[in-house]
Amino acid sequence: MTEPVLLFQQSRLVMLTLDLEQRFTSLNPAAAHLFRRSAEELLGQPFATVLDPFSQAKGQLMFERTLAEGGVADWELDHLQPDAPPVLIGYTTALLQRESGALLGVSAVGRDLTRTLDLTARLVETNQQLEGALLQLERVHTTLKATQTQLVQSEKMRALGQLVAGVAHEINTPIAFIGNNLAHLAGLEPKLRRLFDAYAPLKRLADTAQRAAIADAEAAAELEYLWDDLHDLVVESQQGVERISDLVQSLRNLVRLDEAEMKEANINEGLASTVRIVRSLNKEQVEIIEQYAELPPIVCRPSELNQVFLNLLTNAVQAVTGEGQVRVSSACQDDTITVTVRDTGVGMAVEMLPRLGEPFFTTKPAGVGSGLGLAVSFGIIERHHGRLDFTSTPGAGTTATVTLPVQQ
Ligand SMILES: Nc1ncnc2c1ncn2[C@@H]1O[C@H](COP(=O)(O)OP(=O)(O)O)[C@@H](O)[C@H]1O
Ligand SMILES: [Mg+2]
Repeated sequence: MTEPVLLFQQSRLVMLTLDLEQRFTSLNPAAAHLFRRSAEELLGQPFATVLDPFSQAKGQLMFERTLAEGGVADWELDHLQPDAPPVLIGYTTALLQRESGALLGVSAVGRDLTRTLDLTARLVETNQQLEGALLQLERVHTTLKATQTQLVQSEKMRALGQLVAGVAHEINTPIAFIGNNLAHLAGLEPKLRRLFDAYAPLKRLADTAQRAAIADAEAAAELEYLWDDLHDLVVESQQGVERISDLVQSLRNLVRLDEAEMKEANINEGLASTVRIVRSLNKEQVEIIEQYAELPPIVCRPSELNQVFLNLLTNAVQAVTGEGQVRVSSACQDDTITVTVRDTGVGMAVEMLPRLGEPFFTTKPAGVGSGLGLAVSFGIIERHHGRLDFTSTPGAGTTATVTLPVQQ
């Protein structure tokens, strides 16, 4: 029977036996090595001497359980180590009996769990790192998704922009010649009328049949209204064409077709000339009060900014019904210029304010409003690195404020 002895001597597992007093009756070299004591030293000593004080009660319990239940498995006990952290050993125990059945004590085989613990610790750490990485991945994924949505959105906008640009371009040419033709027609109308008037006295020279035919033709043509109708039709058509051209121009600006030049300009000049235009178009004669502060010149796209002012002023004038005023003012503080357009018009509900930049958002009847004015304006101001803000009180009026940096 040499083999069990070999096993006992050479096993890397901790092997030991205890008597009924829990004293060492044998221990293998692996155990002595782990306990850092020689076998001679330990034989006859209580098992508790090698245990960490915190594990001694648990060691006692292991012993009692083994006696009561015939053995335990994976019973973890900490062992004292001089000058080193305690070693954790997982024991599996069994009863030691003589063949007669008389109880001798307890045998225990233990496995050093320190390495496993180490591994577990490392696993926990790795796991945490993985979780961190996962979290980061999730975050990156979310950002990517947002970027993708944005990309799709801007791609759509680009496609829409191209479409609008194409349509605007296509409309531009026929509208231009319709405009020219109408202007020509408007010029022809008085000439035609003079010609007709020159022929009119000749009617008297006609014979009865001819006169009757002429009278019939005149009645059919409703001569009474003919010239006025003709005049009105031309004028209205011209106004219609003008509206279409304005709309096309707005659309072109919206999709930024015409890159106006950057140059140095004084905002006050643009404001003043825009006010002049609005005054000339303003049939209801809403009072426009101007109040300009001295401003430093800024580098900007003056024609674009004028368009913003025109939109703000038009809206302000359109908002005023009956008695009312529009106040235009400019100011400069530190390195920002502010332009304010304030009206005493109908005002807007708070819910409307966030919608002002939406293309085609209008509360005006078809033909009066296109809903593009502010959409275009917001775009222009953004390109100038400025801000366009609105405050409004329903029934009292609206204030639009443009803020522009002096240095772009
Ligand atoms: N000064 C203002 N007072 C009251 N409402 C305004 C004012 N400015 C803009 N709005 C509201 O915002 C809408 C959008 O304006 P805008 O983009 O210029 O388009 P449009 O003038 O063609 O309707 C207007 O229809 C109007 O309801
Ligand atoms: Mg408008």
